[in-house]
Parts: sequence; C-alpha cells; structure tokens
Amino acid sequence: MQYLYRNQIREIHVEPTSRCNLACPQCARTFKGKGQAELPLQDIDHEIYAKLFSRELCARLDHVYFCGNYGDPVAAINLLDEISFLRAQGVPRISVFSNGSLRTPEWWQELGKLLSAPEDKVAFSIDGLESTNHLYRVNANWEKIMANCQAFIRAGGRARWDWLVFAHNEAQVEEARELSRRLGFVQFNVKSTARFASDQSYKSGKPESAAKTRAGDIEPGENKNVKQFSSVVARFGSWTNYINQTRIKCKYQGIGALYLDFEGDLWPCCWTGAAKYFISPNTQRDQLEKLYARYGRGFNSLYKLSLDEVLAHPWFSGELAASWQANMDAAVPKLLACGRTCGADYEFTGMIGTSNSSIEDLTSEANLIR
Ligand SMILES: C[S@@+](CC[C@H](N)C(=O)[O-])C[C@H]1O[C@@H](n2cnc3c(N)ncnc32)[C@H](O)[C@@H]1O
Repeated sequence: MQYLYRNQIREIHVEPTSRCNLACPQCARTFKGKGQAELPLQDIDHEIYAKLFSRELCARLDHVYFCGNYGDPVAAINLLDEISFLRAQGVPRISVFSNGSLRTPEWWQELGKLLSAPEDKVAFSIDGLESTNHLYRVNANWEKIMANCQAFIRAGGRARWDWLVFAHNEAQVEEARELSRRLGFVQFNVKSTARFASDQSYKSGKPESAAKTRAGDIEPGENKNVKQFSSVVARFGSWTNYINQTRIKCKYQGIGALYLDFEGDLWPCCWTGAAKYFISPNTQRDQLEKLYARYGRGFNSLYKLSLDEVLAHPWFSGELAASWQANMDAAVPKLLACGRTCGADYEFTGMIGTSNSSIEDLTSEANLIR
C-alpha cells in the first residue's frame, strides 16, 4: 500500500534547523548535558522550500508547521523569509513551536504580524514558572521568554502555552494557567511525557526513574505513561513483543501528513526519521541504518529527488506499510518508532488530540487554533 499519494497531502511538518540554544536533558540533541557532537548544525536551504512548496501543492495544504526533533525553529536564520514565502504560495495556516527564549521582542513582533491568518499560532514550550522552567529547559531565559511572548501577542499573534509536566512543576500548573490567561494566550496545553521510557527501558522493560541534568535529576512525578509502559510490558511479556504484535494505525497517514527534516530528507513522520543522530547503540538508530543499507542514504532527499520521486520510492510506495505486518528484525523492519507511536495500546506522542495532551481554551478566539 502506498503511504500517501500526492493528492492526499494536507499537512507538512518542517524542521527548519538543527540549531537550538537549550540543552533539554530528554532532547535527542543533548548528550551528557551538551550538544551531541555528531549532530550537524544547519538550516534547510530556500532551494528545498521552493522545490517542495509549489503553488499547486500549497493550494491543497491545510497546514504547515515548524517544529522538529533537534532544533528550535526560531534559531533558523531564514524563518521569517520562509514563512512569508509559504504565505505567498498560498498556505492557509502556519504554526511555529518554540522555547521562546531566542531573538528579540522586535523579531517576535514581526512574527506576530506575519502569522495573521485566523488559525495561525505559536506554541510556546514553557515547562515551568520563573523558578522551574530552566530545570528541564536548561539555559532558557525567563525574562526573554516573557518579553518575547508578549511582543508576539501584542502584535496580534495567537499563542498557546505548552506545559510538560514533571515532578518539579506539577504543583504550579494552575498558577501558570492563570498567568497564561493574563498574558493573553488563547490556549493552555498540559502535556505528559513518554520519555522516561528510554532505549534502555525498551530492552529492560523498566522505565527510567529520572533524567540527569548538571543541576540534578528531573523526575516524572504523576506520569501516566510510566504506568502505561509497565502495563504494556507486563501484558505482552516484553516491549519487543508489543512492538512486533501491535496493530499500526498511522497517525500521519491518517492526517495526510509528511515530515521534512533539517537535512532536506522527507519522512512519513517526525518519529520515523528521528533516530538519524541518536547516540549509538540504539535500537531505532540500528533500524534506520538497516534501511540506509538497503536503500542508500539520500533515498528520501529533496536535495537529490523531487517529491514525486520520493513518494514513488519502494519504501513509500509499499514496503513501509508492509513492514507494519512484519517484525522488528525483518529485512524491511517494522520500526520501533511505528509500533511505539502508532500502536494500539500505548500513547507516546503529546500531539493534540491524544491522551497526553489536555488543552483548555482561554478565550473565545481559542477555537480558531485547534
Ligand atoms: C524538540 S522540540 C522542537 C521545537 C522547540 N524547540 C520546542 O521546544 O517547542 C519538539 C517538541 O518536543 C517537545 N518535547 C521536548 N521535550 C520533551 C519531553 N521530554 N517529552 C515530550 N515532549 C517533549 C517540545 O515541547 C516540542 O513540542
């Protein structure tokens, strides 16, 4: 089965850069408190935006959003220019995810003016108040975040506050919700993380009790994913058995979405390609290396191929969907990322609409950005 046909594409998730100013302990770009050395630091060139976002494709898109696995979109040198370009090409709805502590209020004001369509938004990832945000968002600057988000909102931008819950911030959720209301955010989104289940946990069946930072340990607190992980392992005998057996209902395919990473590689979703720079040894990275050994690096590169050529590649046109009926060690493996994120009995992602996201509308304008 074809993963997606061109005329089914409705949404594109773009990782405009691998750069970021933070060192969040559970982020793939962080290793032992520092940037993972193997990660190339680069932005997507305009050439790739121009190649992918034809007027014909943009006319059919509902949404383009800038987020990613490794970078903060606001660190991309060309972000404002590329947003203007997408607008001119006819993209109706654009969103940006950011930790909010890069750039100046003037820059955020510009972004607020550019994101003026009724459903545009910025999701500010702020996982704490002044006393706690930097504990997970290592190197974040509270004053800058406050100045930047207010500049964006005053310029007419619609903002959502995304809050990841940990032990150190769970008592502050209501205070933060109240602050977000006062600042003019239109939504407040409480997110539960699944990242206390590490690659080691996948092998041992035991979730991590903490994530290490230079300042101390980050603990999960009341985290439903930790319990869900343990109950899946108990029911299926092991995490590997779960991944091999679970039925895949692909989230991105359901929406008609694709993912473009910072190197210009096109993936079915942000999870399938995420492991490119995971620190080895790692099950997901090993599986990706197996795909590269079979297909060659660049099999999904927009620097080398057109969108139609990538979609016609054997993986996109049949072998990926066939792998969902296979095992993790098959020639075209069922990816751990597929089983974990789009399997039947475990919720990994904090995407809106999943059980890991609990959203509240704060104003009458809020329904415009769901
Ligand atoms: C790698 S970030 C990139 C975008 C941007 N830097 C940000 O933080 O919003 C992508 C998404 O991962 C989320 N994220 C970061 N750490 C997480 C964690 N430990 N568990 C779940 N989601 C996490 C962020 O909140 C964001 O929505």
